Amino acid sequence: MKLRYKIANGILALLGLAILSLGLVISHTADCEPAPALSGETELMKAMVSRCYGSPDVLALEDIAKPAPADDEVLVKVVAASVNPLDWHYMRGSPYLMRLGTGLGAPTDASMGVDFAGTVAAVGSDVTRFKVGDEVFGGRSGAFAEYVTVREDRAIALKPANMTFQQAAAVPIAGITALQALRDNGKLQPGQKVLINGASGGVGTFAVQIARSFGAEVTGVCSTRNLEMVRSIGADHVIDYTVENYTESGIEYDLIIDMVGNHSLLANRRALTPDGIFVIVGGPKGDWIAPLMNPIKALVLSPFVGQEFGMMLAKMSQDDLSILGDLMQDGKVTPVIDRSYRLSEVADAIRYSEEGHARGKIIVTLE
Ligand SMILES: NC(=O)c1ccc[n+]([C@@H]2O[C@H](COP(=O)([O-])OP(=O)(O)OC[C@H]3O[C@@H](n4cnc5c(N)ncnc54)[C@H](OP(=O)(O)O)[C@@H]3O)[C@@H](O)[C@H]2O)c1
Repeated sequence: MKLRYKIANGILALLGLAILSLGLVISHTADCEPAPALSGETELMKAMVSRCYGSPDVLALEDIAKPAPADDEVLVKVVAASVNPLDWHYMRGSPYLMRLGTGLGAPTDASMGVDFAGTVAAVGSDVTRFKVGDEVFGGRSGAFAEYVTVREDRAIALKPANMTFQQAAAVPIAGITALQALRDNGKLQPGQKVLINGASGGVGTFAVQIARSFGAEVTGVCSTRNLEMVRSIGADHVIDYTVENYTESGIEYDLIIDMVGNHSLLANRRALTPDGIFVIVGGPKGDWIAPLMNPIKALVLSPFVGQEFGMMLAKMSQDDLSILGDLMQDGKVTPVIDRSYRLSEVADAIRYSEEGHARGKIIVTLE
């Protein structure tokens, strides 16, 4: 064998070994560690935590240290929280690649939950935007707990007066995702045709209402049992995915927001106008590359076709929370709530979310 082939083979073997080692390291799941000991003087609160990766069985309701607000933070007494698929991605550390950020072997941060609504219980010395007693909603890791601290310039806003804490807690991740997918990635304009695939879920129920408020013609795709609900929140047309494949209807949309990833990008191309936009919000589950396949294909396909294909990653934003607050205050968006669980029942709430058939949002109410 020529020397250059030997070198190439050696490099390939080393690369293979490196990928295998990285795969083994990031997929390793360590045993659950006991809760760290706290001094007798520590002020405590109840919180749902996850000290290792795994199924909802790893979740535990613990007494942990109650946080104190820094100078630029507010302390919120949580009244309600809501569940997102993100919570079980964190809990399982899946897809494994996310463990590069959340912790190899076990989560570096045991706290769970993001979306919250509650009452400001204390403010740091530099806080000017909020005061004790304000009713607020927002997003911050550790929301499945009695208290959470949030920087005043981060994802926290005043709760609209006409919304309950449960309704407000439903909003942050799902509402912001829907808003940013339609407005920023989808560049939705009044009169355009938009199709929402996964219209009955957390993100979908916000997307239908927000798209309608933008003056778009909205088509929602959901299963038979959710057709009436999706129509009732403002969809002009509904498609039952159990009987009809929207990519074969012959109708072209200016924008498709996809929460499901159950049709190929080429099939979706048929359902787009020649300069239409396809926004990937969610897709198939999987520990390895299954969830990344459509975003990778979109990157490859987009430069060669007139349509735009791309994945979006929602960013928590105070401004967008305020926009959603205004839409709720004006009656243009009303969160759809499926079920409510207590803090001690978060494992059941997440099990239900993992089934993938939530009807709007799943709420956690703190007693
Ligand atoms: N990119 C981001 O920044 C971002 C942000 C938030 C969420 N996400 C992702 O977006 C996805 C949706 O999130 P979510 O909070 O809306 O989830 P969810 O509340 O669990 O909703 C899932 C919905 O999907 C529907 N569905 C299942 N199979 C379907 C099909 N074949 N066709 C149409 N609809 C179908 C279900 O409706 P039926 O019961 O009628 O089947 C259910 O209502 C998840 O994958 C999540 O991880 C991404």
